[in-house]
Amino acid sequence: MSSSTPAPIPGVYHVLLPTVMLSTAVVAYDLLRQWMTLLPLIAGPVTYFIDAPFGRFTPKSASMWTVDGITAWILMELPSPLTFAATFYCAPLTAALIPNFTPHLASPFPFSPFAGSSGSADGAAPASLLALLFLAHYLNRALVSPLRTPSRSRSHVIVPLAATCFNLANGFLMGAYLSSPAARAHLAGAYAAPRFWAGVALAVAGLAGNILHDEILFDIRRDANKAKAKAAASPVANEDQKAAKTNAEAEAPKKGGEKEHYAIPHGCLYALVSYPNYLCEWAEWAGFALAAAPLPAAVALAARSWTGLGGMSPPWIFLLAEVVLMAPRALKGHAWYRRRFADYPRERRAVVPWVL
Ligand SMILES: NC(=O)c1ccc[n+]([C@@H]2O[C@H](COP(=O)([O-])OP(=O)(O)OC[C@H]3O[C@@H](n4cnc5c(N)ncnc54)[C@H](OP(=O)(O)O)[C@@H]3O)[C@@H](O)[C@H]2O)c1
Repeated sequence: MSSSTPAPIPGVYHVLLPTVMLSTAVVAYDLLRQWMTLLPLIAGPVTYFIDAPFGRFTPKSASMWTVDGITAWILMELPSPLTFAATFYCAPLTAALIPNFTPHLASPFPFSPFAGSSGSADGAAPASLLALLFLAHYLNRALVSPLRTPSRSRSHVIVPLAATCFNLANGFLMGAYLSSPAARAHLAGAYAAPRFWAGVALAVAGLAGNILHDEILFDIRRDANKAKAKAAASPVANEDQKAAKTNAEAEAPKKGGEKEHYAIPHGCLYALVSYPNYLCEWAEWAGFALAAAPLPAAVALAARSWTGLGGMSPPWIFLLAEVVLMAPRALKGHAWYRRRFADYPRERRAVVPWVL
């Protein structure tokens, strides 16, 4: 009779556990995809009638429910890149399929867009390049941009809470998708595909345009702050300084005891629309989705069923969510500009040149 310890039961460790992990990851992934498609389609139209309480639409009366705008922005945006990086690294939709999978062995994971002997052949390198693009966006959105913002109105606490939930779900979905076997299959050989590079170019141009137009708004605040500081420093102000101070005060709305300065932005795409920063952000995520995932309509057609649209991949879900959530905000903000400034350019549209 042998005294050796019994061998582990392969069924438990190598079949059951991965199966449970895979089904949990797939269930979470599928459920979140459905909710992240449905909820923005409901919330977007609602915010057309009830203004989301941040920025110029923060309630004017002081309230214990409002929080500092810049801090709230950083805290609500940071979960997106953190969740994304962790999920992309762990690759939950892949991990359960490969016994003994460890992320650092699955070269070029993580973040080696140009490494790996196979180049883009297995889709891992283009996926890593897109992951870097996602993280670059959020480095700006969560840290660089808010820390450069001269001032931001206070925000009702409901806004950072809702945005944090959105960003946690979106970070998970995007990380799980980009590290999934499906994404790697779609991205196999992508470095030789014009569509991939067209998408990446649109994403980079959109990011640059978004930063540029945000910067024009920041300059309005910086100039107003300088003018106010100058006027305050010299008790006998000259006529120009007095005029600047008067303008700033005339245009500053009262919000919970705070005063923020607003003026008509000019330059670049502001000639055409009131919210070019939103338009460029949409272009960025449209380019990203084009590079990262098959067109939802193509999937639906291939499956010969419109149900394909209900199972969209995360990059397209993210684009849809951004458009339906930000379009009402742009329309309301555009109407606000027209009410507030009698000389607001009549030809300017809200967010889509000549259309909307
Ligand atoms: N809003 C969203 O749902 C959303 C979603 C995803 C990404 N983003 C992106 O996040 C960035 C910020 O979004 P946002 O909705 O806050 O954009 P926004 O309304 O254009 O405001 C951007 C910044 O500029 C200030 N500002 C706005 N209009 C101004 C004016 N006429 N004169 C002087 N300062 C002005 C705002 O201050 P106040 O806060 O005091 O108004 C804020 O600090 C954008 O790049 C956007 O694309 C936004």
